[in-house]
Amino acid sequence: MRKVLILLYVSFCCLQAYSQGNNYVQNYTKFEGLALTPPMGWNSWNKFACNVDEKMIKEIADVMVSTGMKAAGYTYINIDDCWHGDRDSMGFIHPDPLRFPSGMKALADYIHSRGLKIGIYSDAGSQTCGGRPGSRGYEFQDAHTYASWGIDYLKYDWCNTEGLKAEGAYKTITAALRRAGRPVVLSICEWGNDKPWEWGAQVGHLWRTTGDIYNCFDCVEDHGTWKSWGVMQILDKQEGLRQYAGPGHWNDPDMLEVGNGMPPNQDRAHFSMWCMIAAPLIAGNDLRQMSEQTINILKNKEVIAINQDELGVQGFKYQVKDSIETWYKPLINGDWAVCFLNRAKTPGQLEVSWQLEQVKDTLAKREMDARALIYNIRNLWTAKNMGNTGKALRAVVPGQDVLMLRLSRK
Ligand code: GLA
Repeated sequence: MRKVLILLYVSFCCLQAYSQGNNYVQNYTKFEGLALTPPMGWNSWNKFACNVDEKMIKEIADVMVSTGMKAAGYTYINIDDCWHGDRDSMGFIHPDPLRFPSGMKALADYIHSRGLKIGIYSDAGSQTCGGRPGSRGYEFQDAHTYASWGIDYLKYDWCNTEGLKAEGAYKTITAALRRAGRPVVLSICEWGNDKPWEWGAQVGHLWRTTGDIYNCFDCVEDHGTWKSWGVMQILDKQEGLRQYAGPGHWNDPDMLEVGNGMPPNQDRAHFSMWCMIAAPLIAGNDLRQMSEQTINILKNKEVIAINQDELGVQGFKYQVKDSIETWYKPLINGDWAVCFLNRAKTPGQLEVSWQLEQVKDTLAKREMDARALIYNIRNLWTAKNMGNTGKALRAVVPGQDVLMLRLSRK
């Protein structure tokens, strides 16, 4: 009897100790309710690479407001690689004291005071791609630090991750962010190596589908062990992925290069296609020095509305005729976006007999039946009405440019 009592007592103590040590169950799923439409904002990498500091970031936040970009929907100011200083003796990460002398909390407060949100960058490996301290082994501590600074968005990269499995590594940072308690958009930057579209929807809000974009419309840059891709090459790599995108979880074909040197026709085509495929719209140019043309592209509200459409369906390539691709995207209320993309350098002749068109999107279970219904046509780049689908459309699409339309039910 005494033995039984002792055994019972020991078991009780063990159970109590166990339950006290495990009173928190990790949550490996992302914060819900964020990024219900593709995230919009700005990121430092495409234009500035490692050349980031608090003065520039504050100026970008200011012009985000003064240029009307914020009013157009751009919200996140994301600092990419190289903001980091060292870890202290307790393992806490600090920003580079020369580049960010006021600290990240002060910068976050500044950005928040402008009605914007702040994003930061880290890496699942031991070091970031730029050789700064990564979060491997410090995930919970870093997530706690970011929450204390007031961070709203985390881009989490994949350099120096030898021996790690992508899904597990991203789940670890998600659990860490959940535990820190501040809702954060998680941008999975794993370049599509381990098919993040197959597991990313539970873990993060967007996932890169490819390697890095670079500022060229139709080219590939070979760096030896890796390549960066032009706009058309990235677009082609989205094939077969649309079924994975939807409210709260998006395919990310990388940040925008609009305003970084391509001519307006190529910038317009790039921006239009990113809108058609419901891509995150993260500007990557110097917002302090935008030409009128760049502003007009990035701020085109009717084109942005296609991207931000609540239905949240990624568009698809419907047809290819000579150099012109026709893309469709179903929209809320039975509307459709149609984009004719001319990939050639020379103008292309377009002729659409709407009365013969019946476009079926089996994924979204939507149908555009111009044989049975008449749609009004709006040209989104000229902001002009163009009659309706009762009559065939004849147009010239300039080289490496688009004709982008919204078809609305009468
Ligand atoms: C990787 C990412 C880029 C950028 C750099 C920073 O290449 O894919 O988007 O964040 O790292 O070093």
